[in-house]
Amino acid sequence: MCGIVGYVGPREAAPILLQGLARLEYRGYDSAGLAVLNGHGLETRKLAGRVAALGDALAREPLAGACGIAHTRWATHGAPTARNAHPHGDCAGTLALVHNGIIENADVLRAYLARAGHQLVTDTDTETLVHLIEDAPGDTLEERVRAALQHVVGTYGLAVLSAGEPGKIVAARRGSPVLLGVGDGEQFVASDASAVVAHTRSVVYLEDGDIAVLTRDGYRVLDEQARERQPQVDAVDWDVGDLELGGFAHFMPLRGRLLQEEGDVRLGGLNLPADQCGRVRRIVILACGTSWHAGLVGRHLIEELAGIPVEVEYASEYRYRRAVQPPGTLAVAISQSGETADTLEALRTARAAGSRVLGIVNVVGSTIAREADGGIYLHAGPEIGVASTKAFTSQLVALTLLGLYLGRRRGLDAAAGRALVEQLDALPDLVAQALTAEEEVDELAARFAHAPNALYLGRGVNYPVALEGALKLKEISYVHAEGYPAAEMKHGPIALIDENMPVVFVAPRDPVFSKVVSNMQEVKARGGRLIAVTTQGNDDLRGLVDHELRVPVTAPLLTPVLTVIPLQLLAYHIAARRGCDVDRPRNLAKSVTVE
Ligand code: AGP
Repeated sequence: MCGIVGYVGPREAAPILLQGLARLEYRGYDSAGLAVLNGHGLETRKLAGRVAALGDALAREPLAGACGIAHTRWATHGAPTARNAHPHGDCAGTLALVHNGIIENADVLRAYLARAGHQLVTDTDTETLVHLIEDAPGDTLEERVRAALQHVVGTYGLAVLSAGEPGKIVAARRGSPVLLGVGDGEQFVASDASAVVAHTRSVVYLEDGDIAVLTRDGYRVLDEQARERQPQVDAVDWDVGDLELGGFAHFMPLRGRLLQEEGDVRLGGLNLPADQCGRVRRIVILACGTSWHAGLVGRHLIEELAGIPVEVEYASEYRYRRAVQPPGTLAVAISQSGETADTLEALRTARAAGSRVLGIVNVVGSTIAREADGGIYLHAGPEIGVASTKAFTSQLVALTLLGLYLGRRRGLDAAAGRALVEQLDALPDLVAQALTAEEEVDELAARFAHAPNALYLGRGVNYPVALEGALKLKEISYVHAEGYPAAEMKHGPIALIDENMPVVFVAPRDPVFSKVVSNMQEVKARGGRLIAVTTQGNDDLRGLVDHELRVPVTAPLLTPVLTVIPLQLLAYHIAARRGCDVDRPRNLAKSVTVE
């Protein structure tokens, strides 16, 4: 969850580290710190609060040195205070360490270290690591890090500096992502590429069990058995401009994947030949949060297009359940970040049970992308805001492509395929049109910004959109919101409805529209305030609902890509009007790498 960045080279480290931290702040932002090695040994600055505050502190008291590590934290053990912020140091003040992950046996290690005379001064699990390294045997920092990690149970992505070995950073990975940025006469280490892409696009992803040694002249990667290995150097194919606020959201590059004439799609990385598609008897989708909502839409898409039964599981539940997995089960892990711990473990569980696993992932080279047997990259560009938005719409499109791919290899005829391809091709323009409703949505936000609760209802393929609309509102505006299947409302939530309750219906013109209208009547009869997201040209809701937001017409199965947009905008404008930090909502992190 936290962000790590390190630098060794000829330049001053502190400004590079600060810039890297700012890029990583979406991963965690309750405290920040950095340590730099220079002629005086190790110097550390850390504080509770944002990276900008750390920048101010460094402007007042600069830190010189050309080798350093830095961290932005999302607290797991211990409150977000300056004392608990990383880097952590050892008793002698010669080591500094930053860590992402959880040391599960921290209590045992803490007791052991206290008995051995160590002074532990924070409430964190991480601090135990640096004291273990202090005592560990070995001639070099990397040997001591390896020896210390033998005693650790849990997950880590870490970087360490030692005053005794200036100009060297040691990094290690188990369960939390770490990559090296390979520069010309300078090297970087980071928890994700956004921290280094301003300086280099050549990256090396560490594998679990790897330990890396970085100096300004190069790097070495040692595997679990301490054997040097020659890792692949990957190229980051996106730009630093994609990380800036001005960088416009990409829409998934549909063209190139759509085969108009064949009514089919080209999915290069899927690794699922036609004969294997025919053998799939069941699909289990594994995901969390917004990605799980995308999975619920995916169930409709795949069942309808390919006729394969689909189950959608919370990854966190699936991994601890003895899920029955009959032969022919294909597992599909959906994750924007590709690093969500629960989804990754669920993927491993499904594989261990004999399933082939696919990944639908945005972050190229992320752990889920690398562990899956095949998959679809979203290519949505880096998503920096904690609340997933463009990743969600791109996930829906990727799931449509998967459904169409499977369907065409299992009997869906070319004409049906061509009709869907045509609609997919038109989608980017329709999304652009849907986004023009911004002003109207803001007016609505002004009316409802201070409502303490909201109910979101939808049916069929748009029921998950109701869930997602409610999640977006909760996440970024801290307004309590529930998403429900519209018809289920009368089995309980209807008791909540009075004249103060905004009820948002996701009601495009589709096969269940008339059913949704009946549910609207039920709300109206109890005085609820109705807001409907419906289709342009549909006048059937006049006089029934209080407010309408309209989206362009598309195929019913594709409507979620459009209906979710006004809901994302509504959550955004309500949050902005309530003065919330929209990009970095409290308590959340973009990439949830702890279970
Ligand atoms: C989305 O707005 C949320 N912040 C969250 O639910 C997120 O979708 C979830 O943590 C899963 O993340 P992933 O897609 O990166 O696996």
